[in-house]
Amino acid sequence: MVTIAFAFFSCTHPLPTIPDGNPGPSDTLIVDEACDPNIVYFTNDVLPIFSSSCAMPECRSSTTREHDIDLSSYDALFTGGEEDLIVSGKPQKSEVYEVILDGEMPPSGYPDLTSTQMQKIYDWIDQGALNNECSSCDTSAFKFAADINTIIEKNCVSCHNGPSGNKGVDLSSYTSIKVYSDNGLLKNSILAENGVAQMPTTGRMPDCEVNKLLKWIEAGSPND
Ligand code: HEC
Repeated sequence: MVTIAFAFFSCTHPLPTIPDGNPGPSDTLIVDEACDPNIVYFTNDVLPIFSSSCAMPECRSSTTREHDIDLSSYDALFTGGEEDLIVSGKPQKSEVYEVILDGEMPPSGYPDLTSTQMQKIYDWIDQGALNNECSSCDTSAFKFAADINTIIEKNCVSCHNGPSGNKGVDLSSYTSIKVYSDNGLLKNSILAENGVAQMPTTGRMPDCEVNKLLKWIEAGSPND
């Protein structure tokens, strides 16, 4: 019992609990801040397989679909005529897995799914066939050119493009960004600390982006 309790509480990313009955199109999208290698995500892992291997004209796509089956989106999977297309938690009872397993799909002339792809579909259904996705944002990557500048361009430069930017703050180049990293205002503004207004003004960026910036600042904001 002690071991079980320990294992449970030490697990930071418990696998999703399988909901009762089938999920449906109204199931809200679950977004994980980081991709858990033990979870198969619909948007990241499953949809690309369906899109690349099961949407050719002979097969099933939203425009030319047979038997009312449409694999082009999560909602579509559950609104077609086929009731057992995907049975949450039961891959063996899901028609979509059955036709792949017995080689019926993809149609002849197209390459079979790889065992990795089949396993992904199996695991996704087994884990509850959730409408889920994860962000591949990786806080351990915080190089100026590849990561930091991209975040700032996306979130800040529209209002801080050059010396005439809001409050005279220029975030359009390494040299000008470095000034705000060194004087502490970059950190204060993204965290809304020490009386500095929240930046971007629309609200705090996702934790992953904030953490990348903080790590880069901490590292002395190198031009790497
Ligand atoms: C929609 C426009 C907008 C965006 C986007 C925006 N800012 Fe600002 N920024 C402002 C305005 C307006 C001010 C002046 C706020 C004030 O003084 O209350 C400001 C002020 C600042 C200041 C100076 C704070 C001070 O007290 O001197 C910094 C630093 C700053 N922004 C950084 C950023 C960073 C970093 C981002 C992106 C993560 C960002 N801003 C995104 C509009 C924006």
